[in-house]
Amino acid sequence: MDSRPVGIFDSGLGGLTTVRELRRLMPQENIVYFGDTGRVPYGTRSREIIRRYAVQDIRFLLSREVKMIVAACNTVAAALAGELDGWGVPVVEALTPAVRAARRATRTGRIGVIGTSATARSGAYDRALRELEPGLEVLTAPCPLFVPLVENGFAQRENPVTRMVAEQYLAPVRAFKPDVLILGCTHYPAIKDLLGELMGEGVTLIDSGQEAAREAQALLRTRGLEGGEGSCEYCVSDSPADFAENACAILGERIPAPAVKIDIEAF
Ligand code: DGL
Repeated sequence: MDSRPVGIFDSGLGGLTTVRELRRLMPQENIVYFGDTGRVPYGTRSREIIRRYAVQDIRFLLSREVKMIVAACNTVAAALAGELDGWGVPVVEALTPAVRAARRATRTGRIGVIGTSATARSGAYDRALRELEPGLEVLTAPCPLFVPLVENGFAQRENPVTRMVAEQYLAPVRAFKPDVLILGCTHYPAIKDLLGELMGEGVTLIDSGQEAAREAQALLRTRGLEGGEGSCEYCVSDSPADFAENACAILGERIPAPAVKIDIEAF
């Protein structure tokens, strides 16, 4: 029994897709969430900046005595591939579990990946998929506008702006005819219904936020780290009020107390 919290972070709201799933799987866990809302998006920035931000996010969560860190951000995983260890607590990231799930799900060996510009540019998904199975055919498409759309509450399935953007971004992916599409950014599950509709019924969507939560669950169990009282604390680096409004739509529940504003540059 270990009641220290699980620390989860992302550039903004996206990592809440991991929080939602972890709360469903392990409702007793205490969670500290950090959304770097003052510096979102990460996915349009250079590797050096993303790395600096991620290190500050991790240091902040460590200051809250977390027992595990979930980097619920594919952009961080792609920029820091293989560099997320050595913090004294287990660190789970969002990319590797999504890659494993995609390989399990594909029948045709054709896998589409959508993610931020930084994730696409890094080639991390293509590399990880082909390392796991060299015969896989992979197409990665950057979808940089999805993050600001989700951050600004444009996530409803019928939203005409988001639909138009998604149709354009997904056109080359649909032409590639994958049977699996990895939502390689934790913001994208917020528009999963729309993406599923546009890809069509035969395409399995892999939710990287959800897969990260499953990985965290497995690790908490195998390391004997389970336990807590089900508390959730939300921290942000910009306006707590804006965060609360949009967080509710992704979490499917109201946040229990106002988010706490953090000076992340101090970490
Ligand atoms: N949600 C993040 C990801 O999984 C980052 C999005 C961003 O800030 O650009 O990639």
